[in-house]
Amino acid sequence: MEQDLVAFARDLLHGPETTVGTATSGGTESILMAVLAARDASPRGSVAAARPSMVLPSTAHAAFRKAAHYFGVRPVVVDVDPVTYRAKPGAMARAIDDTTILVVASAPSYAHGVIDPVPAIAAAAATRGVRCHVDACIGGMILPFLDGVRPWDFAVEGVTSVSVDLHKYGYAPKGISLLLHRTPALRRGHYFATADWPGYTMLNTTAQSTKSGGPVAAAWAVARVLGHEGYAALARSARQACLDITRGVGGIPGIDVVATPDSTLLALSSTRSGDVYLLADELADRGWFVQPQLPYAASPATLHLSLSAATAPLVPEFLSALAEAADTVSSGPQLTVGPGIAGVLAALDPASLTDAMLDGLLAASGVSAPTDGSGLALPRRMAPINALLECARIPLREALLLAVLDRLNRPAAASDQESCLFGR
Ligand SMILES: Cc1ncc(COP(=O)(O)O)c(C=O)c1O
Repeated sequence: MEQDLVAFARDLLHGPETTVGTATSGGTESILMAVLAARDASPRGSVAAARPSMVLPSTAHAAFRKAAHYFGVRPVVVDVDPVTYRAKPGAMARAIDDTTILVVASAPSYAHGVIDPVPAIAAAAATRGVRCHVDACIGGMILPFLDGVRPWDFAVEGVTSVSVDLHKYGYAPKGISLLLHRTPALRRGHYFATADWPGYTMLNTTAQSTKSGGPVAAAWAVARVLGHEGYAALARSARQACLDITRGVGGIPGIDVVATPDSTLLALSSTRSGDVYLLADELADRGWFVQPQLPYAASPATLHLSLSAATAPLVPEFLSALAEAADTVSSGPQLTVGPGIAGVLAALDPASLTDAMLDGLLAASGVSAPTDGSGLALPRRMAPINALLECARIPLREALLLAVLDRLNRPAAASDQESCLFGR
């Protein structure tokens, strides 16, 4: 079943006959494996083996940062065009050096929904003998079914690997992505074998060892039911939803589409800073869940929309909820963080924050932990928290997010009968 899915994706993405692929647990694992395979392919004794780096547009998915962190690969981050939000191939080419093990492009980028200039980026990588990975985790099951899409797949020479998630626009349940490599040799670095222990000979294709067959079987069944025509119809309908929302947003004062969308993802910004966070809360009140994205480099704070075929029939309802929310927000007070708090945040050194200080900061931002030490209650309205995060420098944002994650993931106290699995 796994190889059926790989063959399906290979043909869809114009992979040559030599193309091979592996099912992973999701986009992040595919990206991790692409980076690992590239890192471990550097010849022993080379500069790239000693100090590996990868060239990323600043819009590359955060999973590449995770790969960099896990595998000791230095990210060389290149700004994108401040108008189109596409990667700048010239700047990326100049960033490639002897330490580069991988160059990355997105099709499309998650944050802004635009396709990077893959041919120029892949050509720059190929000229230097470096691999080029196209992250099509979110676009790989949409773009092949749309007309007039800029080149992004294996049809582009120099593209060595592509990740495509079936648990996104493949409409399969969570837990499956495919990582395709142009040749078996390119894939070898993410395979792992060891016979160096007294147990069974361990042989793994990905980071997982024992794997569930469930996600592969589910994706296979979904692909079989939908087929090319089914996927094409779903893709066209999601794309239409994206175009209709783009057009509709033009008529809503105070909200803009940040970049012309190439696929089915949209980023919206607000004229008044901070309004996007309030808008997200107002939309949640109306049953619409959109994702706030903090400002980064040239990108303002945005609302992210991932549109699927399920959104298509509801576009008019969404647009009227958005217009209503925008009206409520613009007639209300502007979201601000007091200069005192902003000053405190600016002065904090995330490295020296103790657990007690983090608890205090979380409580001050409206995130409270019950006194029994279990769980954490997030407020219904997240706008003030997003505004605070926006004020904090990136390392402090990360420290706060990790503190929330840690406190969210704690079991209930032993005395809490209600939440005990076996009702002690
Ligand atoms: C472009 C892109 N790459 C990678 C990922 C990571 O995928 P996952 O959440 O399945 O790990 C995403 C997730 O949205 C994505 O949009």
